Amino acid sequence: MANQNITRQAFPENFKWGVATSSFQIEGAHDADGKGPSIWDRFCEGQGHIADGSNGHVACEHYLRWQDDVALIDSLGVNAYRFSVSWPRVQPHGEGAWNEAGFAFYERLIDALKARGIEVHLTLNHWDLPQALQDKGGWAEREVCEHFTRYALEVARRFGSRVDSICTHNEPWVVAILGYEQGIFAPGIRSRAQAMAAVHHLLLSHGMALKAMREAGVTAPMGIVLNLSPIYPASDDPKDLAKAKLDDGLILRHYMDALFFGVYPEDVIAHLGADAPPVQAGDMASIAQKIDFIGVNYYTRNFSSSGNPWDVASTGNQVTDMGWEVYPQGLTELLCRMHADYPLPLVMITENGAAFKDEVVDGVVNDTQRRDYIHNHIAATWDAMDKGVPVGGYFAWSLMDNFEWASGYAKRFGLVHVDFASQQRTLKNSALWYQQFLSEK
Ligand code: FCB
Repeated sequence: MANQNITRQAFPENFKWGVATSSFQIEGAHDADGKGPSIWDRFCEGQGHIADGSNGHVACEHYLRWQDDVALIDSLGVNAYRFSVSWPRVQPHGEGAWNEAGFAFYERLIDALKARGIEVHLTLNHWDLPQALQDKGGWAEREVCEHFTRYALEVARRFGSRVDSICTHNEPWVVAILGYEQGIFAPGIRSRAQAMAAVHHLLLSHGMALKAMREAGVTAPMGIVLNLSPIYPASDDPKDLAKAKLDDGLILRHYMDALFFGVYPEDVIAHLGADAPPVQAGDMASIAQKIDFIGVNYYTRNFSSSGNPWDVASTGNQVTDMGWEVYPQGLTELLCRMHADYPLPLVMITENGAAFKDEVVDGVVNDTQRRDYIHNHIAATWDAMDKGVPVGGYFAWSLMDNFEWASGYAKRFGLVHVDFASQQRTLKNSALWYQQFLSEK
C-alpha cells in the first residue's frame, strides 16, 4: 500500500488530470474510409517483429467505439484527454490529398470531448508515419520536415482553436533510436547515422511546425513530449561514471540542449563522430523555438554500466511486467534536475503508468500494484512541485489496455481492462481508485 497520502486538494485548482492513448495503439480500422498504411502497419507484417504476432488492424476498435470510450473517459472524472491523430488517416500518402473522412473522425471525437467539458490535448506524431513517406526515407530524410509542417498546419487550421494543446512529436528518442538504430520498432532499420539524422529531422520539423502554426495565428499552447529518465552510474568506477554521463547526453541533453539552448552537446557530437546529425545553417535556431510546455513521459530510472549489463533485480525494488524498476523518486529527481538545468516552461507529465499481469476475477481486476504505482508517482509529482518545478498536469498511461508496440497485446498498461475478443471494457481497481481520488473536491 502507498506510504504517503496524497489528495487532489494538494494540487492547484486548474491542474490537468488526464488519461492518455495514441492512435495506432487503440483505433484499429487500419484501412477504413480511405486511411493509408503507416510504418507500424508495415512493420507488424514482418516475421518476429511483434512478440505475439499481432497487429493494429482491430486494436481496441476505438474508431468504431469512440462514443462509448468518451463516456468511459468522462466516467473517470478526468478533466483532460491526450490522444494522437493518425497522420495516414488524414493524409494517406503523407503529402498531397487530405482524407476528409479521417478528419471527420477527429472532429466528432473533439466535439464529444468538448461537450463533456474534457480538455483536448492533441499529439501530431505518436509514431504512425505514413508508409509512403518511409518509402522516401522517412525521418532520416530532410524532405519529411516540409511534409510534417504542412500536416501540422492543416490539423491546426481545422482544430487549433478548439484544442487545449498541440504536441508535435511523442518521444523522438524512441522513434529514432528504437526505430532506426536498434530496429526493434518501426521502421526496423539498423543504422546509427540514419537514427541521428532522424533525431535531427524530428527536432527540426518540430521547430518548423511550431513557427508555421504560430505564423498562421494558432493560439493553442504548443510543445513536444520527451521520454526521460534519470540515469545513474552502476558503480563509482570512473568508467561507469563516464558511461552514465554519455548516456545522459544521448537520451536527455541531446534533446533538451537543442530545444532550450539551440545546440547539441559537444561530448555527444564528439562521441557520434561520422554519425553526427546532418545540421545545416539555421537549423539549431529553428529547433529552439519557444515552447509553451514540455511533456515528460516517465516510467522508470536507468543505470549505466561500462561492463556487464546492469541487472534490475540488484535494486531489490519491485519490477513491472515490462521489466522496469518501480522508482517514483526518480520522477521527482528528474523534474528537479530539469528545473535546475533548463529554463522550463510549464511541464506536463504526459505519460506515467505500469504494465502488470492482470486477471479478471468475477468482473474485478484487483490491480493494487498499478494503483500504488499511480498513487506514488502522483505523490512524486507533488514533491517536485513543492520544490518549485512548474508542473501543470498528469496523464496516466493508459486509458485502456492496447497494442503495446513490439510487445503486442500481452503487456497491459490500462486503467481499464480490455477483453480483446469481445472488446468489453472493465474498470480495473486502479481506475476506481483514480476516480475516487479525482472526486475528492
Ligand atoms: C511510451 C509510449 C506509449 C506507451 C508507453 C508504455 O514510450 O509513448 O505509446 O507504449 O511507452
